[in-house]
Amino acid sequence: MKSYERDNIRRMTGYSWGEQPRDVNVVKLNTNENPYPPSPAVAAALADFDVARLRRYPPPLADGFRDCAATLHGVERDWLIATNGGDELLRLLITTFLEPGQPLATTTPSYSLYPVLAAVQDCPTVEVPLAPEYSLPPDLAAKANAAGAGLTCVVNPHAPSGRLFAVTELDALASELEGLLLIDEAYVDFVDPDLGHDAVTLLRRHDNVVLLRTLSKGYALAGLRFGYGIAPPHLIAPMLGKTRDSYNVDLISQVLATAAIDDQDWARTNWARVRGERESLRAQLEALGFSVPPSQANFLLARVPATADALALKQRLQAAGILVRHFATPGLDDCLRISVGSEEENRSLLAQLRAALS
Ligand SMILES: Cc1ncc(COP(=O)(O)O)c(C=O)c1O
Repeated sequence: MKSYERDNIRRMTGYSWGEQPRDVNVVKLNTNENPYPPSPAVAAALADFDVARLRRYPPPLADGFRDCAATLHGVERDWLIATNGGDELLRLLITTFLEPGQPLATTTPSYSLYPVLAAVQDCPTVEVPLAPEYSLPPDLAAKANAAGAGLTCVVNPHAPSGRLFAVTELDALASELEGLLLIDEAYVDFVDPDLGHDAVTLLRRHDNVVLLRTLSKGYALAGLRFGYGIAPPHLIAPMLGKTRDSYNVDLISQVLATAAIDDQDWARTNWARVRGERESLRAQLEALGFSVPPSQANFLLARVPATADALALKQRLQAAGILVRHFATPGLDDCLRISVGSEEENRSLLAQLRAALS
């Protein structure tokens, strides 16, 4: 049968997402969702929502949400764009700032959606391996510049390792890069506040930096599909005014996302709980013989003991109703990426692992 796809679409492979089971009783530690519920203010806003409002289109630029987020980050409204999940921001950056055929640069490993979205735009991906202990490759900017990359994407805290790159390192990277730098902060809410990490400061010092934020992880709203970008207005305006879908975030999402970020007390309490569980889970995995680098995200990358097989362990956990992520790629195939669950979920996970390894 004749294919009607563009050549590059026919050649490319799509994103493979983590398993999303219907069974709500599964202990789901495979896609880095939040183990705790969203703010009660979200439930209240949903209960109060007047369905008659759906007759009209939503505020096109999500100004109510943008004003709240702007206040939170100490920037003006025109430094923000609301998107249908952080993933939409990635697509907008690529379609707005990368010429078809122009490379996107990233580290490897990294978020596997970057090369997929680049391929949609018929752009190759330059993958620069991380340095030891998942640190930033010193030659990342040189390689990106040599390839003519228009956009370099760095996840921070890094996925799937959880390592946090310092703002000073990103500062140097932004200075060196000839193209844009996307700092994908999908997991930044879980960074220990004592570290004083704040990449928003970079936006005032560079004209080529964009930050990605999402409500999927820190605000426990993965099902809502709401994210946002923060950047100087010369980078936000073309996405906001030209490449975005006309009404890219629906009215219910705008109302609920605003309620969520307005309740910072709830969010911060939740992040502290996740950090507490993260440290306890890490210590217990290490005690079982896993090697687990420190993480500032809501997941851990656990290298399995030499005597065990990561894929077999993942399958055994799955049979016991516990989902974790295994990547069949070199350098990661002896690891399990485990989202930090609630205390009870982590206890079930550890009991199963203990039984499997004994
Ligand atoms: C590194 C990274 N960036 C961005 C996203 C996008 O998240 P969302 O589209 O749910 O906002 C994810 C989701 O898993 C992620 O892991």
